[in-house]
Amino acid sequence: MQNPAPSDPAARHVPVLPAEVLERLDPRPGETYLDCTAGLGGHAVLIAPRLVPGGTVILNDLDEGNLARARASVEAAAPGIRVESIHGNFADLPRVMLERGLAADMVLADLGFSSNQVDDAGRGLSFRADGPLDMRLDPSAPITAAELVNTLPEEELADVLWRFGEERASRRVAAKIVAARAEGPISTTAQLASIVRSAIGFAGHGRGKGGKRGRQGLTIDAATRSFQALRIAVNDELGSLAAFLEAVERSAARSGAAGTDTGRATGGDTGGGRHSTTGDWLRPGARVAIIAFHSLEDRPVKRSFGGLAERGVVERLTKRPVVAGEAETGHNPRARSAKMRAVRLAAGEAGG
Ligand SMILES: C[S@@+](CC[C@H](N)C(=O)[O-])C[C@H]1O[C@@H](n2cnc3c(N)ncnc32)[C@H](O)[C@@H]1O
Repeated sequence: MQNPAPSDPAARHVPVLPAEVLERLDPRPGETYLDCTAGLGGHAVLIAPRLVPGGTVILNDLDEGNLARARASVEAAAPGIRVESIHGNFADLPRVMLERGLAADMVLADLGFSSNQVDDAGRGLSFRADGPLDMRLDPSAPITAAELVNTLPEEELADVLWRFGEERASRRVAAKIVAARAEGPISTTAQLASIVRSAIGFAGHGRGKGGKRGRQGLTIDAATRSFQALRIAVNDELGSLAAFLEAVERSAARSGAAGTDTGRATGGDTGGGRHSTTGDWLRPGARVAIIAFHSLEDRPVKRSFGGLAERGVVERLTKRPVVAGEAETGHNPRARSAKMRAVRLAAGEAGG
């Protein structure tokens, strides 16, 4: 795909915190970049040209369509670069990387969903356009939001809305959903949004019509938190993040035990695309960056990276979470809630 059509979402896609990601990951020729959430390839396209000659880009995504788009974009941006595609959950990456004999010098996880996924009414991620109540990022995954909404006992439903959406009216919303489904299955996003709004009521969240003020003073639709909660539950987003962080922690501990130098492992051509010689999926000195979009994601990242830094097995590359400046939020509204944290593993040879 040399010249993507203007209607191609990848062609219109703007990645969040582009300069900040490049600065923290600091890609060099010959290195291997692992993109845990390839999406439309926005970050990978920025990084790939800096890896040549000899570098490798490993793309991973739950969504096969996005994975193919990201691959095409990377191949167009850095012709001839080695690209590996992995379709799956990033929680499984450490195992899959080892099975394929791959190891990364840089890792990015840009969490959540991409603009084309949320814009596609057929995926049911948004209440802005009516669509089936699906919400799966991987369309081959077994559970849809409709199944949760129509089958979970009321108390469990309230628990999901509270834990994953921090919805203060969780019990009221769950009760409304259970009453509504007794009349017939809830199968569309518009149906669910209207049930949630009716449970919360226009006055429920105080300000704005059926909504409330968010961090940036923007009105948030009353259904936002419930939709977020169901999306997180359907895709086990926090479970995947926890498993991924544990794998980073294990790898960092091994690197830390093998050498306490948290400087860069090697400069220049480190033989990108090579197989893992350390028995680990992260190479010594690997830089790991995670971009979170809400506090439920950012909190475990903060805790995990902070713990590793306290143990002295990583160097913090971000003292505070990096957020977008006004110039970026002005043209990319999604960047408003982005928070990036990054660390560098110790450069000593890691054990197996
Ligand atoms: C915010 S987008 C990434 C955008 C990308 N950085 C870019 O610039 O184009 C998030 C992507 O991560 C994918 N995703 C979300 N959770 C995932 C998981 N647990 N494992 C793998 N991919 C995941 C989504 O399918 C989506 O394509």
